[in-house]
Amino acid sequence: MQTRQIFALIVALASVLCLAACHQSAATPQPDTQAQARDLAARGEYLVRIGGCNDCHTQDYGARGGDIPTSQWLLGNREGFVGPWGTSYGTNLRLTVDRLDEAGWLAYTATLQARPLMPAYMLRQMHEEDRRAIYHFIRALGPAGTPAPAALPPGQTPAPPYLQLVLPTREAPAS
Ligand code: HEC
Repeated sequence: MQTRQIFALIVALASVLCLAACHQSAATPQPDTQAQARDLAARGEYLVRIGGCNDCHTQDYGARGGDIPTSQWLLGNREGFVGPWGTSYGTNLRLTVDRLDEAGWLAYTATLQARPLMPAYMLRQMHEEDRRAIYHFIRALGPAGTPAPAALPPGQTPAPPYLQLVLPTREAPAS
């Protein structure tokens, strides 16, 4: 074989190898990204489940021992929490998430201030990747339902049902 032929053969072989490699790298990202998004949403579901979000943001979740399908999760709560702060309601997080992009949710939850019984201090301290996972899970559930009742100022009696907390006279911290 002449040097020119050998050289041509090497170039041809290199092109085939490059094509194969390029094809592979162009083809892999999509399934990877989809799998990552699924993993993130599954992690978000787990965090919502064990983070207790449903206890207050899903109607009757506790009363039914958590036996509520995920499609009905986080639609808000008509049962008020009454205390020195007035009356608060677990909000419809499906609608909240629908209004925010990922960056907006991360900034919002990192600095959230809310009335009791929302443990806002807990959400603020949650790792960013966990808050991101929760966002993707709720986002995948999609927007649904109607807004929860608006919070009431102290001294107003809400329509039942509500949970009234009789606390020491010292005002409870805001969050
Ligand atoms: C013990 C009850 C309780 C638990 C547990 C709880 N929340 Fe809340 N949450 C509330 C209440 C009540 C409000 C409304 C507070 C207000 O009116 O200021 C609220 C408000 C919020 C808000 C701000 C209002 C909005 O929709 O923009 C976010 C965000 C939120 N909760 C996310 C979560 C997430 C995520 C979890 C689980 C990790 C969680 N909450 C767990 C009771 C709870």
